[in-house]
Amino acid sequence: MAEPPAYPVGLRLTGRRVVVLGGGQVAQRRLPALIAAGADVLLVSPEATPSVEAMADAGEITWERRAYTSGDLADAWYALIATSDPDANAAASAEAERHRVWCVRSDDADAATAWTPATGHSEGVTVAVLTTDARGRDPRHTAAVRDAVVEGLRDGTLVAPHHRTRTPGVALVGGGPGDPDLITVRGRRLLAEADVVIADRLGPRDLLAELPPHVEVIDAAKIPYGRYMAQEAINNALIEHARQGRSVVRLKGGDPYVFGRGMEELQALAEAGIPCTVVPGISSSISVPGAAGIPVTHRGVAHEFTVVSGHVAPDDERSLVDWPALARLNGTLVILMGVDKIGRIAETLVAHGKSPDTPVALVQEGTTAAQRRVDATLATVAETVVAEDVKPPAVIVVGEVVAVGARTPASGA
Ligand SMILES: C[S@@+](CC[C@H](N)C(=O)[O-])C[C@H]1O[C@@H](n2cnc3c(N)ncnc32)[C@H](O)[C@@H]1O
Repeated sequence: MAEPPAYPVGLRLTGRRVVVLGGGQVAQRRLPALIAAGADVLLVSPEATPSVEAMADAGEITWERRAYTSGDLADAWYALIATSDPDANAAASAEAERHRVWCVRSDDADAATAWTPATGHSEGVTVAVLTTDARGRDPRHTAAVRDAVVEGLRDGTLVAPHHRTRTPGVALVGGGPGDPDLITVRGRRLLAEADVVIADRLGPRDLLAELPPHVEVIDAAKIPYGRYMAQEAINNALIEHARQGRSVVRLKGGDPYVFGRGMEELQALAEAGIPCTVVPGISSSISVPGAAGIPVTHRGVAHEFTVVSGHVAPDDERSLVDWPALARLNGTLVILMGVDKIGRIAETLVAHGKSPDTPVALVQEGTTAAQRRVDATLATVAETVVAEDVKPPAVIVVGEVVAVGARTPASGA
């Protein structure tokens, strides 16, 4: 007949005596969780590993440097028996039984009255995995199940919405440059919990296909000089959906605060009294050059990098960029939204002292399957953009770092 399954339970150990026998590797692995649970830990062992000793030195546990003697478990609520002496383990186990103290045995799971589950944590939840009975014990399998559940919860592939503690209001989520793997763990989890997603053209569009059918996806595409949804309309949509009590994710490309109008949206939500969480993202300004094999800094080459918007030409009165000052810098210049104006920008940089031979790289659709890199110099970039038909979105890198490293894209996997 099959053995009845173990009964799972969560012990609330705060201030309660837990006796640990043996100060070796097992104790080292188990003690942090007992300390975190607030247990009053007594370690009985002639020796201990340096890490366990450090816990005693820090006052996190009490350590009596001696071997186990009968009576040590008298006041315990719970015991961990892990000495290297099988006779001492058996004697302690028998004492635990007499005193009705639940005890874990590192050397003999069958003789134990309790088992330690494989545990992990994610956002206020402890995942604890036990095998059903002693015969089926397979610690690697339980650890693998634990890892699968915790990973799934963290990256949003396992969808378990919070019903009582759901993030209220709107989350402004930086989605990274485009590769769906480059969103943060928090961003992915919030996306998995959303009722409504208002998404930009840039960013990890592939993730939208994974959303369950009930999720409303609204396209907030702001195509330069083409059809666009006014910022006010986006703000209003965020407010309206949040007011209906829905969990709204505003999914943005890169980082919400790098040319992303994140603060404008946050302010509009604040004025409407709607709570807003901002989740940082990996900005294209660094990651897209990196994906094309270009480091924005490199020892002995560039000790600074400056990120600017090229959406208006240098001679446009709306421009807030000090192009003459940028021309004097030695470091790397990273230009976003600059494909259309790169000719005028290159001319201005050269006119204010940059060498016409300064290397330039344009990286289009970085981190996506369509990524391509086109190289030029400040002297040739205007004609190269036309000849090579470079289109937005592209990150333009100006500076000697372009010539550093291999021309082949670094493997991101
Ligand atoms: C409105 S800005 C948004 C920037 C974004 N918040 C960030 O931190 O990456 C859009 C510009 O970012 C750059 N960009 C964003 N994603 C890109 C990608 N995957 N490949 C190339 N350029 C990209 C382009 O210069 C594009 O015109």
